[in-house]
Amino acid sequence: MSSSLIRVAVAGAAGRMGATVCEAVEGAEDMELVARADPALSMSLEDALSSAPNVLVDFTIPSTALANARHAVAAGVHVVIGTTGFDVAELEDLRGAKANVFVAPNFAIGAVLMMRFAVEAARHMAGAEIIELHHDRKVDAPSGTAARTAALMRDAGGREVPIHSVRLPGLVAHQEVILGDVGQTLTIRHDSVDRVSFMPGVLLAVRRVSALAESPMVGLEHLLD
Ligand SMILES: NC(=O)c1ccc[n+]([C@@H]2O[C@H](COP(=O)([O-])OP(=O)(O)OC[C@H]3O[C@@H](n4cnc5c(N)ncnc54)[C@H](O)[C@@H]3O)[C@@H](O)[C@H]2O)c1
Repeated sequence: MSSSLIRVAVAGAAGRMGATVCEAVEGAEDMELVARADPALSMSLEDALSSAPNVLVDFTIPSTALANARHAVAAGVHVVIGTTGFDVAELEDLRGAKANVFVAPNFAIGAVLMMRFAVEAARHMAGAEIIELHHDRKVDAPSGTAARTAALMRDAGGREVPIHSVRLPGLVAHQEVILGDVGQTLTIRHDSVDRVSFMPGVLLAVRRVSALAESPMVGLEHLLD
């Protein structure tokens, strides 16, 4: 029975997101949490990989996510990355590697839909700007979600989309896309009011990462339809 469980290690396990992922994995009937890597827990990534996980979930810091992914893939461990603020293009050299990499700047279904609707609207309205609002401990700005939304909207609408970043205590993760045209505006807003909003997406990625159509794969939208 236990051999059919997906063995999951979490990097950044002592962090806000990592701790929430550990709880979600422990609550999933088809998964087993085998390691919590974090300097704050005195467990290195190497130690975590030695517990033979099938999948490493990384919610750490921008400067370490790439190295963590390379270590895991070299060990034959699939990787799900939620960390933002690093250049995903640097994962390209892992194409064709012996383990897969899945990255999403936002694992909340509502945020994925917000991006999809914003891209559609960008085709039809004259201008757009993004306001992203996050808690004051977030280390990167603009957010990965805002950067990806702006890039997708630019590709669809042919115009740059400026991003404004707000950092305040009391916030979790929020984004507003405001589009303007003659005599009208359209506002598309998503709010993650609790980190549990990201967990269904993270667990979906853990279940699917071993059988991706291509790797690296970027964006939760690829796993939804
Ligand atoms: N993709 C998404 O849906 C999503 C949602 C929310 C946050 N995030 C991103 O997740 C990341 C983590 O956010 P957070 O709020 O949990 O941050 P946090 O600061 O609370 O946690 C980061 C943790 O990583 C640990 N860490 C640092 N270096 C490490 C290493 N080499 N190995 C293992 N652990 C290491 C730190 O000790 C810390 O406990 C950020 O990049 C944030 O932007 C992504």
